[in-house]
Amino acid sequence: MWFAPLLLLATSLIHPSAQQDGNYTAPYPYATYPNGTSPNPAASVNAEFSPPYYPAPWATGAGDWADAYAKAQAFVSQLTLTEKVNLTTGVGWEGERCVGQNGAIPRLGFRSLCMQDSPVGVRDTDYNSVFPAGVNVAATFDRGLAYARGQAMGSEHQMKGSDVQLGPVAGPLGRAPEGGRNWEGFSPDPVLTGIQFAQTIEGIQSAGVIACAKHYIAYEQEHFRQSTEAAGFGFNINDSISSNVDDATMHELYLWPFADAVRAGAGSVMCSYNQINNSYACQNSYTLNYLLKGELGFQGFVMTDWQGQHSGVGSALAGLDMTMPGDTLFNSGQSYWGANLTVAVLNGTVPQWRLDDMCIRIIAAWYYVGRDNTSIPINFDAWTLDTYGNEHFFAKEGYGLINEHVDVRQEHADLIRQIGSASTVLLKNTNNALPLTGKEKFTAVFGDDAGDSPYGPNGCSDRGCDNGTLGMAWGSGSANFPYLVTPETAIQNEIVSNNGVFQSITDNYAGQQIQALAGQATVSIVFVNADSGEGYIDVDGNIGDRNNLTVWDNGDVLITNVSAICNNTIVVIHSTGPVLLGNYSNNPNITAILWAGIPGEQSGNSIADVLYGRVNPGAKLPFTLAESREDYGTDLLYIPNEGTGAPQVNFTEGVFLDYRALDRANITPVYEFGFGLSYTTFSYSNLQVTRVLGLNSTYTPTTGSTPAAPTYGTITNNTADYQFPSNLSFVPNYIYPYLNSTTLSTAANSSDYGDNSDVPANSQSSSPQPLLPAGGGPGGNPQLYDVLYSVTATITNTGKLAGEEVPQLYISLGGPYDPKVVLRNFERLSIQPGMTATFTADITRRDLSNWDTTAQNWAISSYPKTVYVGSSSRTLPLSAILS
Ligand SMILES: *[C@@H]1O[C@H](CO)[C@@H](O)[C@H](O)[C@H]1NC(C)=O
Ligand SMILES: *[C@@H]1O[C@H](CO)[C@@H](O)[C@H](O)[C@H]1NC(C)=O
Ligand SMILES: *[C@@H]1O[C@H](CO)[C@@H](O)[C@H](O)[C@H]1NC(C)=O
Ligand SMILES: *[C@@H]1O[C@H](CO)[C@@H](O)[C@H](O)[C@H]1NC(C)=O
Ligand SMILES: *[C@@H]1O[C@H](CO)[C@@H](O)[C@H](O)[C@H]1NC(C)=O
Ligand SMILES: *[C@@H]1O[C@H](CO)[C@@H](O)[C@H](O)[C@H]1NC(C)=O
Ligand SMILES: *[C@@H]1O[C@H](CO)[C@@H](O)[C@H](O)[C@H]1NC(C)=O
Ligand SMILES: *[C@@H]1O[C@H](CO)[C@@H](O)[C@H](O)[C@H]1NC(C)=O
Ligand SMILES: *[C@@H]1O[C@H](CO)[C@@H](O)[C@H](O)[C@H]1NC(C)=O
Ligand SMILES: *[C@@H]1O[C@H](CO)[C@@H](O)[C@H](O)[C@H]1NC(C)=O
Repeated sequence: MWFAPLLLLATSLIHPSAQQDGNYTAPYPYATYPNGTSPNPAASVNAEFSPPYYPAPWATGAGDWADAYAKAQAFVSQLTLTEKVNLTTGVGWEGERCVGQNGAIPRLGFRSLCMQDSPVGVRDTDYNSVFPAGVNVAATFDRGLAYARGQAMGSEHQMKGSDVQLGPVAGPLGRAPEGGRNWEGFSPDPVLTGIQFAQTIEGIQSAGVIACAKHYIAYEQEHFRQSTEAAGFGFNINDSISSNVDDATMHELYLWPFADAVRAGAGSVMCSYNQINNSYACQNSYTLNYLLKGELGFQGFVMTDWQGQHSGVGSALAGLDMTMPGDTLFNSGQSYWGANLTVAVLNGTVPQWRLDDMCIRIIAAWYYVGRDNTSIPINFDAWTLDTYGNEHFFAKEGYGLINEHVDVRQEHADLIRQIGSASTVLLKNTNNALPLTGKEKFTAVFGDDAGDSPYGPNGCSDRGCDNGTLGMAWGSGSANFPYLVTPETAIQNEIVSNNGVFQSITDNYAGQQIQALAGQATVSIVFVNADSGEGYIDVDGNIGDRNNLTVWDNGDVLITNVSAICNNTIVVIHSTGPVLLGNYSNNPNITAILWAGIPGEQSGNSIADVLYGRVNPGAKLPFTLAESREDYGTDLLYIPNEGTGAPQVNFTEGVFLDYRALDRANITPVYEFGFGLSYTTFSYSNLQVTRVLGLNSTYTPTTGSTPAAPTYGTITNNTADYQFPSNLSFVPNYIYPYLNSTTLSTAANSSDYGDNSDVPANSQSSSPQPLLPAGGGPGGNPQLYDVLYSVTATITNTGKLAGEEVPQLYISLGGPYDPKVVLRNFERLSIQPGMTATFTADITRRDLSNWDTTAQNWAISSYPKTVYVGSSSRTLPLSAILS
């Protein structure tokens, strides 16, 4: 049996040490051993290497998990071996009604758990809401809205009978703006992402549903994430792409939001498709055992992405807890776990404590969010909307009522509309072109992106096309619309209610008609979009990832044609990420530009609320809008670069994504990260810094060790106990925990059975293990979250309208390899005209630290630390040195 918890590349390169390096290219080794030394420290050799770390840490009930942990101990103690294996293994693709389900424990009346997409609602059903995407939540810079959306989505999952909502997303973080799934997550800034990720998780779990923080980790592009998928697009590779990330970048950037997620109590984490430093995410002992369960003290369970598992014993020892959807390949009827895991425990390769820990983690998460009180029967089916059908979709068995069509939307439309307008960023507004009054003499609306899709809002499976207004992007991160209010409809309603004149053209290529209408209009509103999504769908040649950063479907020509004729042209962009704006910011006929993201079902109402001034825009850009694609300094790999071997991407830019890259290279963006206008104006004054614990306060590395690994119940060694029950009504292609032979090798049915030569050293040990210096509680060493300084500033509304402003706190860490500034905090304030509000923000130890690769801990460097407060990453009028 093949497994590779680590794999060394033959190639390596000598980097100068950090001190000698005159630029910012990967000043750190790609990876270090957990003891802080690098694979070849003498020569400072950097190899894309993932160090082994075993054994897999066992849950201890740390943080506020003690109750859930105790209940889980009691529950798991009662289970037999096959019942335990059932908890860890999915029944196979389309085996049950949810997108993934594990085995049940009928003896105890414990039903199979339902894992259901998506990060924007409940996927694959009806009578559900479609919420604004993560990127919009980021743009709100509003913690309360992130929480409220999480709670509303969690509640919809709860009412459908789903146990685990497969979201939210912080991987991709958004390394490159072209990344297909960036919109499912929040922002390329780790602090903005971390805060909204944690708020969403707390919201979802407050509704009694387990959140799944995904995709862990460094999953930054769609191309080459899976060799089987790549083959479908004509690429011949044997392994998934490897994201090669150095230790400091891992901590300071990609792991940061996951630390927030663990601290927020996330019940589950999904490991990703890619490799990290040439070890698959779902069997990478460094990222799972060392970082997630060791350093971050994660108490919940790790599940695979669908078909993301690549080994049985290897993944179990490397810290995986649940395989989804359970089969090796969809509908193969075989599993790396299931019977193989039963066998691996019986032959002693996977110790009982490891299996027990998987179960404890799954059941503890279930109790942690209160599913013992909130669980209801599953009332929908992910594979069909038909009312009656087969419970086992693939096997075509178990005919009955499968879709009860329960309307779970409640009053969520109001919240969706609110988040839609609260996430709309006003980028340009010449001479108060906006807000409109609705009394304009002649309003014209242009663009395919303004109107309905001729196929209807759900006409393309998983939203895999770009027709009509872009309310949601494509892939498994989508959901079915109950309706989609288009901008065309909402603006028309506005004008008709004022007895005005309204006309629209939604064919972007109708040059002659467009010119004629633009010539009549007093105001022209042009809608354009740029779409992207998940890598299994190709839309217009974009295999998940975008091929370019321009707007789609002749959008630039449309804008040019309208603005050449109409001197009051307003441009609205729906996009999954940054787009190139040409010279629109300087074009005098383009009087306003708005970025509206992907706002969900209430899209038209949300934009109308902003256009007509019912809502004063307060959103800020969650990314930079640069002049050119190259300005971002990061891009994707579109052609495999290692022949049929795993494509390699070195994250040599380190922590310099987005504004940090442009700041470093001194490139002026069109609109910078954190930028956004209002219909009123604000001034900033009176920065006050209060020293709480201060820079020199003591930080104590965690020491000591864990207890020995516990086991629960006894597992008998008699293989006859684990045979298929004679009365089982076997579902074809279903994954069971049972053996079909009393001979283990026969039951396992794999060619390399018995080859345990690559079971890593120490991986089976149940002895007490040392705690990590940066560990000590969920989210890491609790002292990382100590408040060292507290900052206040006065924000005054100097205009005539009530409005919302997002003061942002940035820090300069001061070192030669640090970004110019990094975002560390923000708050969205509502301020009446002429009034002031106080912005209050804490600065924690983590906020002021860098990752020390040698100490394997966070440390505050001796470089001077400066705090800045302002309205964007480049407008920072207030500053102070921290002392
Ligand atoms: C990645 O970096 C290694 C050195 O660590 C180098 O040998 C390799 O060529 C790089 N790969 C790419 C695709 O840049
Ligand atoms: C980085 O610095 C080294 C040494 O100063 C230099 O050789 C190299 O060309 C630089 N690389 C970049 C991308 O600037
Ligand atoms: C660090 O760990 C590696 C891998 O286990 C080992 O080879 C090396 O000797 C260790 N170094 C020190 C200083 O303990
Ligand atoms: C395992 O799960 C399957 C599917 O839910 C169920 O039919 C079977 O009875 C379970 N086995 C045990 C031992 O609980
Ligand atoms: C056990 O796993 C191997 C792959 O390692 C697979 O080929 C085999 O079919 C599995 N056995 C069962 C019973 O699923
Ligand atoms: C749907 O969009 C595609 C391009 O995104 C376009 O080629 C096609 O014509 C559109 N279909 C309709 C019916 O508008
Ligand atoms: C960028 O891609 C979109 C979608 O495929 C396409 O409509 C557009 O024409 C492309 N832009 C350029 C400049 O080629
Ligand atoms: C702006 O619009 C006017 C018509 O109102 C037109 O004459 C002029 O050429 C336009 N300017 C640009 C830059 O397109
Ligand atoms: C815009 O064009 C209109 C005629 O369509 C004209 O009355 C108005 O003065 C122009 N405004 C500017 C600022 O050029
Ligand atoms: C134990 O079982 C597992 C799962 O089938 C198999 O991969 C492994 O090679 C077996 N080990 C031994 C020593 O039999």
